[in-house]
Amino acid sequence: MAIRKILTEPDPFLRQKSTDVEKVDNNIRKLMDDMLETMYDAPGIGLAAIQIGVPKRVIVIDLSRDEKKTPMYFVNPKIIVKSEINSTYEEGCLSVPGQFAEVDRPDKCHISYLDYNGQKQELKAEGLLATCIQHEMDHLEGILFIDYLSKLKKNFIVKKLSKQKKALERIIV
Ligand code: NI
Repeated sequence: MAIRKILTEPDPFLRQKSTDVEKVDNNIRKLMDDMLETMYDAPGIGLAAIQIGVPKRVIVIDLSRDEKKTPMYFVNPKIIVKSEINSTYEEGCLSVPGQFAEVDRPDKCHISYLDYNGQKQELKAEGLLATCIQHEMDHLEGILFIDYLSKLKKNFIVKKLSKQKKALERIIV
């Protein structure tokens, strides 16, 4: 396993649409292992492959936030049905460091996906897990949570992150 670099906004790569995984083989499992390690290290509760520069439809999530880890792996996730009732969470994202905003999303979602072993599974998620799955699935479409904010708020955040990035690239020798 290896910790990989997480891409941050504004990076055009994050806007790319990810493609389906054809087969869950050892390469994909290695990718999932790396994603999990990168996510725990960050730390975060969810990560999409595109965030480490791999445009494949792979997501890892672990909501446990304690010693006993309970990782979840989703390959080629598809929403079967979403609830009409929304819930609101204050969201952040490892690709939008230090920024948080309230986002409304369907409170429940029923999804199908392939698991770590390539087996077809279905899951009915609600609350935080439903929000997290939908946030990560947005990454697969090149969508970030800041896209749901007003233009003003979004521009403010992107400007701030661009400045931070420039400062990081600066070197003094
Ligand atoms: Ni994110």
